[in-house]
Amino acid sequence: MKIEFSTKKIEQIKADLELVFVVNKNIKKFSKSKAVFDFTQYKGEGTCLDIENKILYVELKELDYESIRLAFSDAFKFASKLNIKSIKSPCILHECVVKSFVAMAEGFLFASYEFNKYKSEKKDSKDLKLIISSSEINNKNFSANEAKIGLERGEILALACAFTKDIVNDIPQNYTPLKMAEDAKNLAKKDKNITCKIHDEKFLEKEKMNAFLAVNRASVHPPRLIHLSYKPKNAKKRVVFVGKGLTYDSGGLSLKPADYMLTMKYDKSGGAAAMGIIKAISELGLEIEVHSIIGATENMIGGDAYKPDDVLISREGVSIEVRNTDAEGRLVLADCLSYAQDLKPDILIDLATLTGACVVGLGEYTTGIMGNNEKLQNDFYESSKKSGEYATVLHFNPYLKELIKSNIADVSNTSSSRYGGAITAGLFLEKFIRKEFKDKWLHLDIAGPAYVEKAWSYHSFGASAAGLRMCVNFVISLLRKEK
Ligand code: BES
Ligand code: ZN
Ligand code: ZN
Repeated sequence: MKIEFSTKKIEQIKADLELVFVVNKNIKKFSKSKAVFDFTQYKGEGTCLDIENKILYVELKELDYESIRLAFSDAFKFASKLNIKSIKSPCILHECVVKSFVAMAEGFLFASYEFNKYKSEKKDSKDLKLIISSSEINNKNFSANEAKIGLERGEILALACAFTKDIVNDIPQNYTPLKMAEDAKNLAKKDKNITCKIHDEKFLEKEKMNAFLAVNRASVHPPRLIHLSYKPKNAKKRVVFVGKGLTYDSGGLSLKPADYMLTMKYDKSGGAAAMGIIKAISELGLEIEVHSIIGATENMIGGDAYKPDDVLISREGVSIEVRNTDAEGRLVLADCLSYAQDLKPDILIDLATLTGACVVGLGEYTTGIMGNNEKLQNDFYESSKKSGEYATVLHFNPYLKELIKSNIADVSNTSSSRYGGAITAGLFLEKFIRKEFKDKWLHLDIAGPAYVEKAWSYHSFGASAAGLRMCVNFVISLLRKEK
């Protein structure tokens, strides 16, 4: 796929197909096309082809970034079924030039993502060229440079999302912690600005990461702690991401029922997002030091499995009563967050498919943002809104904190109540955050949006790379504040 920007008039651009956007059935808004089109035939949804004039009419629901993404996604999906090589399109501008171009590129490229590794019949992936013309813009604020920045950013983000989706969509039989470590090493091999350290089980033992090790015990696949770093010369801040990398979550001895176990290959989504985030930030060349720490393991059953009733001494020295082995993500994260704090981050963000409760509470589209610092949470929420991802702040309170008290250890890995499970999981993690980092930490529960079981908007079935775009947007916003 290739996306180009041109200042030429749309009539002067050569392409196999022209896009004309329809807002409230009004085609004039974004195109001067003289084509006569019978709108009584057009139901006002999705796309409609005028073969004679080589025009594809595409519905634009509203003039906002999400609708731009959806329109360009619809356009790609339709055009990829035709025997064509190039498309020309007017530029749709909404408020900010950079964000408009990010949205056009993301929509087009998100639609082109396909996971067909395990299909014997592979559809030819369509290589379409999109040329976006700016000639019809009468806006003095328009800058070709910003358009190019936007296109490049959109492409980098969409490719990083595809990288993350490939990891999440892969199957537990092949995609083990060792494979995740190999992908991380390859990422560093391809990008000279990223370095990668892989720590094995001996290191975890030496570091007393007993909570992480307990989760791994019944698995035939050894665990890996993945540490990716990006350290640009003039870094203004250091941000550390920590990702839950459960390559499979069977629930362990507190075994999941069959229906709930299905899809648990996506329990590595937080780790996969942390890998995609550092890839995107490095390619964007942002002047922020970034680390991605991923705890990669399976949660399985067997004679050696850790058990409900066990007590684990974590790397931070906090003892944990295990009451349910299916609450394993927080155990892995507890030790990874401890390791991450040794890096002395200015901001520490973990991403995890942590709780079913978060999906029940917020639905399948929305990430839960938790933490102690209201300003940081609100700033992050603003970035998420601009990124095209949905998120909302879930507030802690002292009464929920009571629910993870243990009679036998410093903390219990499950709550004593059926209610508030997303927040009590967040409060569990908070137990492992040192005083000096309490206000620098955010927890993102991406259990809802990380995997799409019913396609919506421009998201197709499977992994969605949830968390990636909002985190990269947040890091970009840190630089803006710096100025
Ligand atoms: N990986 C799951 C959370 C999850 C559930 C992610 C559904 C995506 C969709 C996590 O490890 C888990 O099983 N959590 C338990 C915690 C409970 C035992 C306290 C849950 O949410 O049921
Ligand atoms: Zn679990
Ligand atoms: Zn899990």
